[in-house]
This record gives sequence, C-alpha cells and structure tokens, in this order.
Amino acid sequence: MLKVGIIGVGTVGASVANILKDNADIISARAGVEIVAKSGVVKTLGRDRGVDIALTDNPDDILNDPEIDIVVELMGGIEEPYEVVKKALKNGKAVVTANKALLAYHRYELQDLAKDKAFEYEAAVAGGIPIINALRDGLSANHIESIMGILNGTCNYMMTKMANEGVAYDAILKESQDLGYAEADPTFDVGGFDAAHKLLILASIAYGIDAKPEDILIEGIENVSSEDVAFAKEFGYAIKLLGIAKKDSNEVELRVHAAMISQDEMIAKIDGVMNGISVVGDKVGETLYYGPGAGGDATASAVIANIIDIARAGKSAPMLGFDKPIEGKFTLKPSGE
Ligand code: NDP
Ligand code: HSE
Repeated sequence: MLKVGIIGVGTVGASVANILKDNADIISARAGVEIVAKSGVVKTLGRDRGVDIALTDNPDDILNDPEIDIVVELMGGIEEPYEVVKKALKNGKAVVTANKALLAYHRYELQDLAKDKAFEYEAAVAGGIPIINALRDGLSANHIESIMGILNGTCNYMMTKMANEGVAYDAILKESQDLGYAEADPTFDVGGFDAAHKLLILASIAYGIDAKPEDILIEGIENVSSEDVAFAKEFGYAIKLLGIAKKDSNEVELRVHAAMISQDEMIAKIDGVMNGISVVGDKVGETLYYGPGAGGDATASAVIANIIDIARAGKSAPMLGFDKPIEGKFTLKPSGE
C-alpha cells in the first residue's frame, strides 16, 4: 500500500482525496498497488472540507510521517511550498505538485534536489490536459518549433461569458473564483502571470530555457472590456489570452498577451474554462491539445495520474536533458511589443 499526504486540502486537494477513494478500484488496478490518502493539511482547522481523511494544520505532521510515501503539494504560493517541497524531498518522499508559480521560480533547483526521487507536476499546466506528458514523451523525437495556447481557464471563462452574455468583468471574475477556477490571488489570472508561469514550464521542457516571469513580456486581460470582446465577435474574431513560445534559430521568444483570433481558427473556438494548446514539432507538424484547464476534479485527475506513475515506476522517469537548462543551446529572445 502507498500512503499519500495532501498539503493543502482546498479545491484541488479535496478532489484528490475524494477521487483516490471513489476510483480506488481502477487506480489500484492501474498502479499495481493500493493507494490511500492518509492525511491532509489546511491552514484553518474546524471547517468541513468534504473529505474523510485526518486533517492537521502543521505540514510537518505529513513531512515527518514515516508512513507517508508521496507528498502532494496543493497549498499555493511560492516560498512556503518551496520549503515544504524541499523538506519532503530531503525526507525521502516522492512529491507531486500542481503549483506552477513555485515551478516557474524553482523547478530546476527542486528537480536537482529530487535526484532519483519522483518530482512530478502534470497538473501545473492546463489542468486536466496531459500536456507535460505530451511534450516530455509523446513529442520527444521532435525539435519544438512553437507552442501557442490558451493556458488560463479563468481568463478564457471570463472572456467567453463576456462575449456571449455580456457579463461585466467583475461579476464574472467573482463567478470564476466561486467555481474554484481562479488563483487565491486572481491578479495572477487576469494579469497574465499564471499563463506566464505555465508557459515558462513548457518552455523549460521544450527548450531547456531557465527564464523567470520577470524576463518575458506579460500582459493580462484587465483592460479588455465586455464591449471589446463583443465588438471583436461581431467582426468574426475572438479575443483570447495566449501564451506563445516561438523558436527562431537558437533563440526562443516567450510572451503572454491577449490577441484577436479569427473565428475560423480552431483555437478561437475554445470556450469557457477549457484550455487549448498547439504544439508544432519539426517532424510531427502541428498537434493540438484540448481540455479543462481548471477545476478541482479535472486538476486532480492529472495529479493522480502522476501518483499512479510514481507507484508504477517507483521513481521519476529520467528527463534526459530536460531537467537542466540546455546550456548554450537556446537563449531567450527579447519580446517585441
Ligand atoms: P485553494 O486555495 O482552494 O486551497 C489551498 C489549500 O491550502 C487550502 O486548504 C488552504 O487552507 C491550504 N493552505 C494554504 N496555505 C497553507 C499553509 N500555510 N499551511 C497549511 N495549509 C495551507 O487552492 P486550489 O486547490 O485552487 O489550488 C492549489 C494549488 O493548485 C495552487 O498552487 C494552484 O495554483 C494549483 N492549481 C489549481 C487549479 C484549480 O483549478 N483550482 C488548477 C491547477 C493548479 P485553508 O482552506 O484553511 O485556507
Ligand atoms: N487559475 C488557474 C486557471 C487554475 O484559471 O487556469 C489552473 O491552473
């Protein structure tokens, strides 16, 4: 039996605990071992979280528990989870996280610290879409020419509602928060930073780029109004917040901004909380990935896929050159406005 400790039993953490129980039959069949959520951490005890695992408010109760094999970090933030993940790895635990902000700043370092311990993060980019798996494994024979995608479910949900129902920006942001799509600080969503964190993770896998959010162009949707979105629609366009990585010889340009896209394009048809990512490989051509980009169960689906992989392999599959910056190969190209 493998025991899981969930640090952060909020929207995603509660779904992880519940799916491990609800789908225990198929999960244990695929993992080859029974997997149970043993305990979880919340900041404030005393509220019903809809889970039937033991809860504590002290991460050390999980990090120092010799029975816990896999620590799942779902608390959000950067510095606190950084300490938590470091301690988990030092204590010999496998770690799964969905925390893209943490990864955008500390992935290489944590991957180094993990060494042969599993450190996995499929859910960190595009929620339920297995895009990390696709880039790391499915497309690994290719030079990646470009990555372009809708990487933030909250912004896409907001702009879809603004276009179709004319709902005001503030009301629809509040709805996205109530649905569990938005970050604890929704500025990360609407400011484009969350999409940038995800783009940096994808670029690190595809190109070995070790850039930080401060190094790239990031614009959000704060200045996009319902009128703008409706007006664009009238003229046959959708406005989408895009994360774009483009390779040009040995340089890669990374940028996040809203763009008008013709409604004839597939990516323009991706609505609501759905994400969609186009990845062009030099041999495969264009591939497109589509699915729910946020939400408890969809995200937990990807978290648990990592847990099952860890159970199967016992450790992370070696990342063969993608776990460290590929020195001297690709450099960051300054973004044009
Ligand atoms: P929530 O805010 O819903 O949950 C966070 C949980 O962590 C809460 O239970 C909170 O406790 C707990 N927590 C926070 N800080 C501490 C602390 N210092 N000590 C102990 N517990 C703490 O977040 P989500 O579930 O939405 O997101 C979790 C992570 O997953 C984030 O990194 C997010 O970016 C990522 N993610 C989220 C997705 C989504 O759709 N929601 C999709 C993909 C990734 P309390 O409830 O008491 O405050
Ligand atoms: N807040 C994020 C989004 C969660 O809306 O896409 C998924 O990463």
